[in-house]
Amino acid sequence: MKLRVGVIGTGAIAKYRHLPEYAAREDVEIVALCDIIKEKADKLAVRYGVESVYTDYKQMIENEELDAVSVCTPNYLHAEMSIFALNHGLHVLVEKPMATSLDEANAMIEAAKKQERVLMVGQNQRLAPMHVLAKEIIESGMLGKVNTFRTVFGHAGPEHWSKTGKWFFDKKQAFAGSLADLGVHKMDLIQFILGDVDEVACFIDTLEKKDCGVDDNAVAVLRLKNGIMGTVETSWTYKPAEENGTTFFCEKGTLKMAVEPDAPLVAYFANPGRGRCVFEVPKMQTNEEQFSTGVIDGFVDTIQGKKENPVPGEEGRKALKVVLACLESAASNRKVKIEEVK
Ligand SMILES: NC(=O)c1ccc[n+]([C@@H]2O[C@H](COP(=O)([O-])OP(=O)(O)OC[C@H]3O[C@@H](n4cnc5c(N)ncnc54)[C@H](O)[C@@H]3O)[C@@H](O)[C@H]2O)c1
Repeated sequence: MKLRVGVIGTGAIAKYRHLPEYAAREDVEIVALCDIIKEKADKLAVRYGVESVYTDYKQMIENEELDAVSVCTPNYLHAEMSIFALNHGLHVLVEKPMATSLDEANAMIEAAKKQERVLMVGQNQRLAPMHVLAKEIIESGMLGKVNTFRTVFGHAGPEHWSKTGKWFFDKKQAFAGSLADLGVHKMDLIQFILGDVDEVACFIDTLEKKDCGVDDNAVAVLRLKNGIMGTVETSWTYKPAEENGTTFFCEKGTLKMAVEPDAPLVAYFANPGRGRCVFEVPKMQTNEEQFSTGVIDGFVDTIQGKKENPVPGEEGRKALKVVLACLESAASNRKVKIEEVK
C-alpha cells in the first residue's frame, strides 16, 4: 500500500522540495493539495497528477483518506495545522521553524505523543551528507576538542525565493526575520553536531529592508553547555551570492563545511604532516540549485518504521528555543540562558 499524503501550502518550499521529493518515491501517492490561492495548488496538481485540490485544509483532512501531511504554510499556521492533522490521526512533517512560540511547540509535541504519530520538522541541514560526516569527524576525535565555531547563513532575502513570501516580513505571521528563517537551521545544526546551547547574546537589526517588521540581520554569540562558544550570523542582505558555511576551530586543526567553493568539506590539520584533507561529499542545495534534501525520505522511512525520526518535534523545539532566546537577548540587551525561555 502506498503512503497517502497531502500537502498544505503549495508555495516555494512545497514546489521545490516536498512535491518533487514525494513524487520521486514509488511508495508514496500525493492524494491532495491545499492552498488558499487555488490556482497555485491547481498548477502543481496538474504537474503531479493530483486529483483533489482544496482551499481549506480542514476539509482536505476530513474528506480525504490521508496517512500524512506536509505543512508548508507561513510560520504562524504551523502549530494549528499540525495539531489538527495529528488529532485526525495523521503523521506530520512541518516546515521550520516548527512554531512561533514554545507553547505552540509543546502542544504539537504533546499531540504527536498522544496520537502516537510521527511529528518531524523540516530542518534539513543536519541531513546534508557534509554535516553528517562532519559530526563523525568531530566525534572521532581526529581534530581534537572543538574550541570555537563560526556559522553563517545569508542570502538576498525571501522576496527572491517566493512570490507569495510577503508574510516573511510580517512579525505576526513570521514572528522573526532572518533569525527565524535562516538562524533556526544553524541553531539546529550546531546543537546536532556540537551539543546543547546554554546561553546566548544577540544583536538584531533591520539594516536595509526598512519597511520590514522583522530583523534582516542578526549576529549571535552562543555558549554551549560543554563550554564551546561561537557565533551565528544570519542575513537577508547578502548579495549577490548566498553564504551558508560553518567552521569549527579545534585543538588539532580546523574543519570547514560549505566554506570553500570547490571543497564542501575540508579539514586542515595543525600538524603539517597531515596537511589539508578534502572529503568526497556532495555540496549543499541552494535557492538556485535544488536537489533532494533527504527530508521526505526521512519522514516516509520513519512512518514505515525503517528508521528513527531524524528531526523529531523535540529537536525542532530545541532549535526554536535558541532563536527565542536570541530575540529575548536582543530585546533586553543582556545574555539569556536557554532555560529562561518560557
Ligand atoms: N527547509 C527549508 O530550507 C525552507 C526553505 C524555505 C521555506 N521554508 C519554510 O516553509 C514554509 C513556507 O515557506 P515558503 O517559502 O514556501 O512560503 P510561500 O509563501 O512561498 O508559500 C506558502 C504558501 O502557503 C499558502 N497559505 C497561506 N495560508 C494558507 C492557509 N491558511 N491554508 C493553505 N495555504 C495557505 C500561501 O498561499 C502560499 O502558497 C515556511 O515556514 C518557511 O520557513 C523552509
